[in-house]
Amino acid sequence: MENVCVVGAGVMGQQIALVAAMAGYRVKCHDVSEEALRKASEFVDGYLAGRVAKGKLTQGQADRARAALRFTGDLGEAAGDADLVIEAVVEKLAVKRQVFAELDSLCPPDAVLATNSSYIVSSRLADATRRPARVCNMHFFNPALVMKLVEVVKGPHTAQSTVDAVMEAARRMGKIPVLLRKEVEGFLVNRILTAIRNEALYLYETGVASYEDIDTAVVHGLGHPMGPFRLLDLTGIDLSYHVAMERYQRTGDPAHKPSPTIVEKFVRGEWGRKTGRGFYEYGGERERRG
Ligand code: 3HC
Repeated sequence: MENVCVVGAGVMGQQIALVAAMAGYRVKCHDVSEEALRKASEFVDGYLAGRVAKGKLTQGQADRARAALRFTGDLGEAAGDADLVIEAVVEKLAVKRQVFAELDSLCPPDAVLATNSSYIVSSRLADATRRPARVCNMHFFNPALVMKLVEVVKGPHTAQSTVDAVMEAARRMGKIPVLLRKEVEGFLVNRILTAIRNEALYLYETGVASYEDIDTAVVHGLGHPMGPFRLLDLTGIDLSYHVAMERYQRTGDPAHKPSPTIVEKFVRGEWGRKTGRGFYEYGGERERRG
């Protein structure tokens, strides 16, 4: 695999694209929004300049990574010569299915189509393509430039050769892949994280403690690098809202509805770092990063 296409230039897409470019892949990153492409390109320039200034990359390494990464609004151009596509668009099943169907008609027949979805198993996307054996999950964590884990999920339709290629690509990107041999919604980490988040939201909404104190408790009592509310701000309250809504619409179980706090913040546009405010405020340029 030499050519990687990342579909979606949001928080995850832009960082995954840069991780791949820094690992030596030729990368094209696509988004339907010109604004998203501009912001992603600015992020990449700022990040690489920061790494050089910090002595973490040489100017030559930064230049090579930048030259290997192109942003484009044309999906055909992005996907036409791809060996591996990593889809990182909004967490809505209908949108992802549409993207997979388009990718199937645009990509070379043996290209692997992987989804970075936070919880949707690839068997819900594979039948939108004529290459189910080449479809799987490849799930990165936020911030993808820092977090080492990648969850690779083998669906019943996925060929072993696809899983092997994706595990190998994750390793080449400097990541530590784990393999889920069976599909399960939410995979490993988000299932565990959801349990923690639900409990944190329950404790906050029932007035047991402030969200700041719950974060403090988790950081200093459990040793997590950040508490569940600060982490919600990092991963995006919009993402949590969409994930819960998709699940609720599918199961009809009121227990799967997004919690009142998440709905309130979603409606207000307080989505976390990406909007400058979530549970916390993010004023400085550095805090808005990612
Ligand atoms: N983008 C890129 N790089 C970032 C970054 C960002 N948003 N935030 C921090 N970094 C880098 C810094 O540049 C620094 O790199 P360096 O040491 O090589 O110079 C390094 O990370 C450490 O940064 P800081 O010293 O500023 O801050 P921390 O030590 O507090 O680390 C953190 C920040 C890595 C975000 C850490 O707080 C952490 O690990 N938090 C938990 C993150 C987490 O749990 N992520 C998983 C969420 S679940 C998920 O993503 C699933 C999805 O489906 C929703």
